[in-house]
Amino acid sequence: MATDEHAPARPVVVVSNRGPISFRVGDDGGLVARRGAGGLVSGLGPLVAGTDATWIAAAMSEGDRRAADRGVVETEGFRVRTLAFPPDTYRAAYDVVCNATLWFLHHGLWDLARRPRFDDRWHEAWAAYRTVNEVFADVVAEVAPDDAAVLVQDYHLCLLAPVLRDRRPDLRLVHFSHTPFAGPDLLRVLPSAVGAELLDGLAAHHACGFHTPRWARSWEASYRELRGGSPTAATFVSPLAPDPDDLATSAGSDACRNSLDQLEERVGDRSLLVRVDRIELSKNLLRGFHAFDELLRRHPRWRERVVFGAFCYPSREGLPEYLAYRQEVEGLVRTINDRWRTDGWEPILLETADDYPRSVAALRRFDVLLVNPIRDGLNLVAKEGALLNERHGLVALSPEAGAWFELEGAVRRVDPYDVVQTADALASALGATVEERRVEAAELRRRARARTPADWLADQLAAAD
Ligand code: G6P
Repeated sequence: MATDEHAPARPVVVVSNRGPISFRVGDDGGLVARRGAGGLVSGLGPLVAGTDATWIAAAMSEGDRRAADRGVVETEGFRVRTLAFPPDTYRAAYDVVCNATLWFLHHGLWDLARRPRFDDRWHEAWAAYRTVNEVFADVVAEVAPDDAAVLVQDYHLCLLAPVLRDRRPDLRLVHFSHTPFAGPDLLRVLPSAVGAELLDGLAAHHACGFHTPRWARSWEASYRELRGGSPTAATFVSPLAPDPDDLATSAGSDACRNSLDQLEERVGDRSLLVRVDRIELSKNLLRGFHAFDELLRRHPRWRERVVFGAFCYPSREGLPEYLAYRQEVEGLVRTINDRWRTDGWEPILLETADDYPRSVAALRRFDVLLVNPIRDGLNLVAKEGALLNERHGLVALSPEAGAWFELEGAVRRVDPYDVVQTADALASALGATVEERRVEAAELRRRARARTPADWLADQLAAAD
């Protein structure tokens, strides 16, 4: 899409909560733009940059809010329109509905004896979420060129399509869920009117996309059971893929080389187990550490012979659940290290500063990469690890990650709730022979390279027609 020969037939508008650029207020009071965080931006960003596409996103920082006053801003190759909301409205929509409700719903994270509880505050937050979606719809209606393909991303924006279709029937609307999709039993947890509004909001698109057939089936089953019949929106499946060139550039940077040197020094000639994740409940960090504890107990030969490098950076700390989870993770790591450490061997290196070059360095160096989520829309790290690794490292993957669908057969299975099975699978992967590693890692690389971000974008545009 970045060149004319790949230019799409329709103009493109991308709509997401987090934009491709975040702004901060510089020392001189001016606005400084930098590339936004997250998998969506790293996957889609390079394809959209330098094209005529417009990207519409919410203002998440003070700098973003100031940028919002300027209308469409052209910077770093993007045409970005940032939307500022009254802070209370935005927080209610983002924290209470998007993060504490819809994220928990689609990842099955509720402890149902206690949560959720849909009280007055929650119903007000739902009204705020509806308002945010309506404002997004108004702005898309204003700025979208005739007949544009509007690519709406994720659970933050489920209610925009009905409004937008009324106002701009010429537009083609595609929604893509980067998360899993809750099946009917979980969706019944929502207040019934809310569940209906959510499903109808998604069905008002021309097409709805998912990373795996499994999430697509859940969406259709939920719609059928709670709304009756099949959704009018077409369903499509299109897994995102990492950009190998972007990864190679990061891997070749000085910052990454320095981080790798430091890591080598700390690990020495021991084997290296790695994980790279947000500190996020669905990533199953606690059971990952319990499994490592089991590994050291059940397989004594690995004591002092393996280091677990856990590169886990904070996320959504506005939510008490995330803060408490982080404390629990740090406490558990301390306990395990206290149990097993010896002179000169620290079993777990937990690094919680968000340091992208260091994460890339860890992915270049791992012997085994642990990816054991409870549920995950895709999990790009599993594919990035496969592409970046330089030691024929193996990936231990949970079948609950969407990427399982593409990588099964080229990865070691870890059952996310079974810490004994996970410990044994990790021990077996760590003990694989050079030849086993060579063969498995080559197949894994082949699978991880099978698609590119351009394929994903092409699928969205095809779904729009
Ligand atoms: C992860 C998910 C995406 C989601 C994003 C939001 O990356 O895979 O589906 O859009 O989180 O994260 P944020 O930090 O913007 O709340």
